[in-house]
Amino acid sequence: IFLSHLALSCLVAFVAFAAIRWFIRDSCKVDAFSQKHVFITGCDSGFGNLLARQLDGKGFKVIAACFTEKGAADLAAASSPRLKTLQLDVTDSASIRRAVEFVSGEVRERGLWGLVNNAGRSIPIGPTEWMQLEDFTKVLDVNLIGVIDVTLQFLPLVKKARGRVVNVASILGRLSLTGGAYCVSKWGVEAFSDSLRRNMHHFGIKVSIIEPGFFKTEVTRVDLIDADLRRLWMRLPQDVKDSYGIIQMTPDTFYSLSDVRMQDLAMGLLCSSDISKVTRCMEHALTARHPRTRYGAGWDAKLFWIPLSYLPSFVADFVANALLPSPRVE
Ligand SMILES: NC(=O)c1ccc[n+]([C@@H]2O[C@H](COP(=O)([O-])OP(=O)(O)OC[C@H]3O[C@@H](n4cnc5c(N)ncnc54)[C@H](OP(=O)(O)O)[C@@H]3O)[C@@H](O)[C@H]2O)c1
Repeated sequence: IFLSHLALSCLVAFVAFAAIRWFIRDSCKVDAFSQKHVFITGCDSGFGNLLARQLDGKGFKVIAACFTEKGAADLAAASSPRLKTLQLDVTDSASIRRAVEFVSGEVRERGLWGLVNNAGRSIPIGPTEWMQLEDFTKVLDVNLIGVIDVTLQFLPLVKKARGRVVNVASILGRLSLTGGAYCVSKWGVEAFSDSLRRNMHHFGIKVSIIEPGFFKTEVTRVDLIDADLRRLWMRLPQDVKDSYGIIQMTPDTFYSLSDVRMQDLAMGLLCSSDISKVTRCMEHALTARHPRTRYGAGWDAKLFWIPLSYLPSFVADFVANALLPSPRVE
């Protein structure tokens, strides 16, 4: 009994020591924020927009890339004169090249401390059979090829600063809950980031992956997702429509309206409006002396989706089937 208590006490002491050590290590920050440049993509709205303003407030030299001119003008008006904006389409290599030239002029010999690949789109999302190849490439071009192109073109600047790359994936990069290219693209971001981290740690570059759960932003707007779902439905051949168990063909009877409403309700309940949970993770990845490899952002990600991703596939299949509309197959 004495020995087993001793072993238990040693184990508890070891776990407590490890937890305290992890906490202290995790809290150590880098210094001289005001000397560090961070380049963020997709700053018109959502996480990118908030992160740009948050880092600007901490004194970082932020270069915020927006998709639209209006997005850039609005962000510039809402931040300090230190923050610079530029227009960037991540699907256009020439546009990325122009951004690299601009950023090189800003950072000079210091190099780029942080590259945040945040730009993304979600639509089209829907059953795989409803998609055409172009529906896949539209999303993959932004969410995956865009991330790879931006990273490859900016890497020399990041290498100069022995800086960080922060890639925004998703819990849908661990669990393929929906059809279409969104999950495919985020699994790709996870794989690309893992290889990049392993290849670049020799040069002092740290790579972190952000895995948000569900948050209320443009990419989770159910009205936009539903409108696009209708577009996909309307162009389906009649035999495919019939196979989904719907005979009438009006815009309102596509798929099963009540199921789609259930999906909308589930999304409404799932999505958190506190997007600072995500930007805090991004900030940690850029300011911690020892950034984490993966950040699960949001309680749904931490307590439900990420644990679910480790369970057998049939459990995830059950959850996906319960949450998503299903065809009325006889
Ligand atoms: N919201 C969530 O629940 C959630 C969960 C997991 C992961 N994510 C990921 O988080 C990232 C940020 O999304 P968000 O939720 O903050 O949504 P958001 O507000 O729509 O942000 C996405 C940004 O990317 C921009 N963008 C779209 N296409 C682009 C292109 N070709 N080139 C450059 N920029 C482009 C958008 O510009 P416009 O607004 O002008 O189109 C927008 O500023 C995305 O990668 C998304 O997949 C979001």
